[in-house]
Amino acid sequence: MKVVIIGAQWGDEGKGKIVDYLANEAQIIVRFSGGANAGHTIVSGGEEYALHLIPSGILYPDKIVVLGAGMVIDPQALFSELSMLNDRGIKTEGRVFISDRAHLVLPRYIEIDKQRDAGRKKPIGTTGRGIGITYSMKSDRDGIRIADLSWKEKMDDLESSDREFLEPHADRLKAMSVDLASFIKHHCNAQILFEGAQGVLLDLDNGTYPYVSSGMSCAAGAAVGGCVGPRALDKILGVFKAYSTRVGNGPFPSEFDEDEGSEASRSSEVSRKSEASLSRFVRNTGREYGVTTGRPRRCGYLDLVALRYACFTNSIDSLVMTHLDVYDTLDEIKACVAYRIGGRVIEDFPASISDLNAAEPVLRSFPGWKRKLSGCLNYEEFPTAAMEYIEFIERFCETPIGIVSVGYDRKETIIRKSPWRG
Ligand code: GDP
Ligand code: IMO
Ligand code: MG
Repeated sequence: MKVVIIGAQWGDEGKGKIVDYLANEAQIIVRFSGGANAGHTIVSGGEEYALHLIPSGILYPDKIVVLGAGMVIDPQALFSELSMLNDRGIKTEGRVFISDRAHLVLPRYIEIDKQRDAGRKKPIGTTGRGIGITYSMKSDRDGIRIADLSWKEKMDDLESSDREFLEPHADRLKAMSVDLASFIKHHCNAQILFEGAQGVLLDLDNGTYPYVSSGMSCAAGAAVGGCVGPRALDKILGVFKAYSTRVGNGPFPSEFDEDEGSEASRSSEVSRKSEASLSRFVRNTGREYGVTTGRPRRCGYLDLVALRYACFTNSIDSLVMTHLDVYDTLDEIKACVAYRIGGRVIEDFPASISDLNAAEPVLRSFPGWKRKLSGCLNYEEFPTAAMEYIEFIERFCETPIGIVSVGYDRKETIIRKSPWRG
């Protein structure tokens, strides 16, 4: 069985937590896209781990993890992450592999990324990890892959500073390298989890371009970056938060208005003051600060227009809802069910950035449940109001919600339907 986990919003949905949880029943975990721009958090037994490049199955001592072909790998970031894990007692020797087709991030790409974004009239707000530059070198056919480290002519033709950077890392990288297609073919009966990074709305093609990352964070990226055909993938799971967040710039139609004094408040139903305090409440309760850059995340209502679009464009079989506990104490919950753009009501997710910037959220209200969900042992113990919110989302997106996460700890996870069974 091969199960794909993607982010169904703008990243940071809790993919790391869910991959770690489901990895219990997997043998191999393949991260298929992105690089050290990602920050995947796992909390287990009171210990918190922030992973950037290493797949989120690494905490189990017996799992094999692979950095896939769709990834872009900064060797220094990789080796410091391995050291961090080893220092914390996680043995990584012999069970971390890298696809020989993965591309390498060079220090000068990181500098160009930072300079280019700072010089943009409208910066994207990149993580400054050289991601976009590495993917554009790849598209330009000037990138350097793990396999190229053994290609003498290519290495000889590199600029001397690039070669001097790579040479000390080359043997260690080559020792970890694997032909991922034949590796997966060889393990065809294994339970394999394909771990995405970022999210559908940050995907280069499906996302809010140009305010996106540069990798394939969509489900199709699992096939391309995981070195398997699309029909080899059995289940596609999309992780989303009970609300929305975004780091960096770009349109965010359901964003809470943070400015209590602004004249440009979008919503007549919700006072500016209460939206600003809701924003602060969600950021503090959900600990909404970036794992990679520490930036405060922008927060907003759950955007069901965008989530339904993510389900359709990624053939999501089942959704995973996280952070529902953040809403435990609210009297009322709202979600965006359409956009009002220039007097028209739009129910499909537009490509146009000016439309998305102009969009006002049409909000639907739900009663709060006013109870601590993390005390529930199964879905049947959930308060009716929480079930109503969940089941409305399922109907709206025409996609079941198979897992509900009600806290950051491994234990705080309610399985309605396991992707490993049926
Ligand atoms: P990822 O990039 O999708 O793996 O997500 P991040 O790790 O960047 O951000 C998710 C944050 O939410 C992390 O701090 C997690 O520990 C935390 N988290 C995950 N699931 C839940 C949940 O259900 N409730 C709460 N309160 N926090 C969660
Ligand atoms: P995970 O895997 C949230 C955002 C950046 C910026 C844009 C482009 O943890 O969900 P980049 O450095 O990739 O060129 O930046 O994408 N971004 C993320 N936002 N979660 C992520 O990863 C992200 N990776 C990139 O903030 O807006
Ligand atoms: Mg993250």
